[in-house]
This record gives sequence, C-alpha cells and structure tokens, in this order.
Amino acid sequence: MNMPVVLISEEEIQSRVLELAGQISADYDANDELVLVGVLKGSFIFLADLSRRLTIPRTIEFIAVSSYGSGSRSTGAVRLVMDVRGNIEGKHVLIVEDIVDTGHTLKYLIGMLESHRPASVRTCALVRKAESAEVDVKVDYLGFDIGNEWVVGYGLDYAEQNRTLPYIGVVSPDD
Ligand code: PRP
Repeated sequence: MNMPVVLISEEEIQSRVLELAGQISADYDANDELVLVGVLKGSFIFLADLSRRLTIPRTIEFIAVSSYGSGSRSTGAVRLVMDVRGNIEGKHVLIVEDIVDTGHTLKYLIGMLESHRPASVRTCALVRKAESAEVDVKVDYLGFDIGNEWVVGYGLDYAEQNRTLPYIGVVSPDD
C-alpha cells in the first residue's frame, strides 16, 4: 500500500485537541465526576492526548464493540464486546470516538451507556464523515468534518495498518 496522503497534519490535530480539551474543561464543573469512555480500538491515541489536556478531574474507562456484517463500515447491528469496568451510575459520561461514519456505533453506545443511569452522556469525536450519516446522532465535541474518504492514522486503521501515524491521511484501498 502506498503512503497515505496527509489530510489533517499532526500540528492541526494537536491544536484542535487542545481547543476541544479547553471547551470540555470549561463546560463541566470541577466537582462533576467526569468519566471519559474510550471506544476501542480506534480512540486510544485521541483519548490519551485529549485526557492529558483536560484541566478538570476525570477518570478513564474503555468499551469495545463490533459490528455484524462483512462490510467495511457498520451495518447498524452493533454488538457489545466489552463493557465499562467501573460503576458510572450518577457520573458524567463523555464518549470518546476517533470517527463517526454512519453513526450507528455512537447511537448504540449512547443508549447502552444511558442504561447504566449516568448523570449525563455526551459525545466527542475527532472526525466525522458528514456525508455518510445514516442515523442522526449528536456529536457534542467535534474535531473535524471530512469527506467520504478512507482515512488512517491517529488511531484509525485500514486492515489494522497505519494506526500509529501522527497525522490523519487518506488511502485508497486498491493501492
Ligand atoms: C470505527 C470507529 C467507530 C465506528 C464508526 O471503528 O472507531 O467505532 O467505526 O462507524 P459507524 O459510525 O459507521 O458506526 P472500527 O469498526 O473501525 O473498529 P476499530 O476502532 O477497532 O478500528
């Protein structure tokens, strides 16, 4: 596969992450029990950077899901592979995603986490493919809107490759 073509540079990502962290830190009260819920695997780098830029207390949880079907994107049938480990009842949950594509995964996760009776559930995603949306799901904190391209890096993969690139790049699966 050819090297990905840079779409969002490392510098652009880092400065947007800092802005998002500032917004989130301002929106929550320092006494709120904020729990960042990272969605494996793709969110691990974004979550690591975002969480370290926050200036308010926070704890970290992870959740894992998988989509049924063989397509490259989710079909709407999302399955929980690993739930949060800690008790989130009465706490403020912020779901942290690398990408929102069709929106099925995030919609499922909001409903699933709400069943744990948290004080609130909000969403944060680094990138969103606005044209690919199949369901209406609110992203409270969004890094970038992108087109319908296959993107890798900063947690995102193509066939498990290129997750640890410091930038977000575009690949064509035929490369
Ligand atoms: C990606 C991403 C979201 C989901 C978004 O995960 O991290 O969880 O797809 O797609 P949707 O909006 O169409 O539901 P992926 O299935 O690639 O798994 P990974 O994070 O383990 O790479």
